[in-house]
Amino acid sequence: MKEKNKDLIIAGNWKMNKTPKEAGKLINKLKTEDKNSACKIVLCVPFIDIPLATDLTQNTLISIGAQNCYFEKNGAYTGEISAEMLKEIGVEYVIIGHSERRIYFNETDEQINKKINSALKSGLKVIFCIGENLQERENNITEEKLIIQIKNALYKVDKSQIENIIIAYEPVWAIGSGKTPNKDEIDHICQIIRNTVFNMGKILPEEISVLYGGSINSKNAKEILTLPNVDGGLIGGASLDIEEFLKIINCTAK
Ligand code: PGA
Repeated sequence: MKEKNKDLIIAGNWKMNKTPKEAGKLINKLKTEDKNSACKIVLCVPFIDIPLATDLTQNTLISIGAQNCYFEKNGAYTGEISAEMLKEIGVEYVIIGHSERRIYFNETDEQINKKINSALKSGLKVIFCIGENLQERENNITEEKLIIQIKNALYKVDKSQIENIIIAYEPVWAIGSGKTPNKDEIDHICQIIRNTVFNMGKILPEEISVLYGGSINSKNAKEILTLPNVDGGLIGGASLDIEEFLKIINCTAK
């Protein structure tokens, strides 16, 4: 069960969408129209949008996140961006281990673990994604899969740093598909995630932040976001449409 009175986190994952011009429009609209939300908003934008996004959100309650980083600090790694670089330009969060990176860019648990350690060392908060694919769900090995992903990713992560990690449960089959697990399944899995981290001896279950992601939209948001074990949502497609995103944010109003 989550801590009472903890602010919900609504994180938008824009993926490879929105040029800087489009990003500016969306953020300005969000700033003017979001009046009564009661949540922490994080926009995880493409690298190219970060300088504008951090500028536009200065002195607001909106935080900016990146969608990936490399684990080395600097060096001959053409095309990569380090956690330290992100931190210097005002990024607060970074998504690590998203299933699209695992699937299309062959990211392994070992690399994800190195990225998490490097991001935390640089002072970033991590939105760490885990989730089972359809075959694993059908074979009833969802829980085992998630526990392995957590244990591998949190290897050698210092106890004191766990509070800077948000775990996003994103079933791979639910991402962009319009399908979601039912609410009891989501709540149960999010509780397992809390207990797994707790059993690693690092933090109390209620202190851990656990998000759900995968086909959240304005119609199902309220039901999902009010589940006892869910601290917020990681939202892909629906975060690209400002009206839809505002509706999701507004359903957190107290
Ligand atoms: P979706 O994506 O909301 O479009 O399903 C979620 C995600 O991939 O983080």
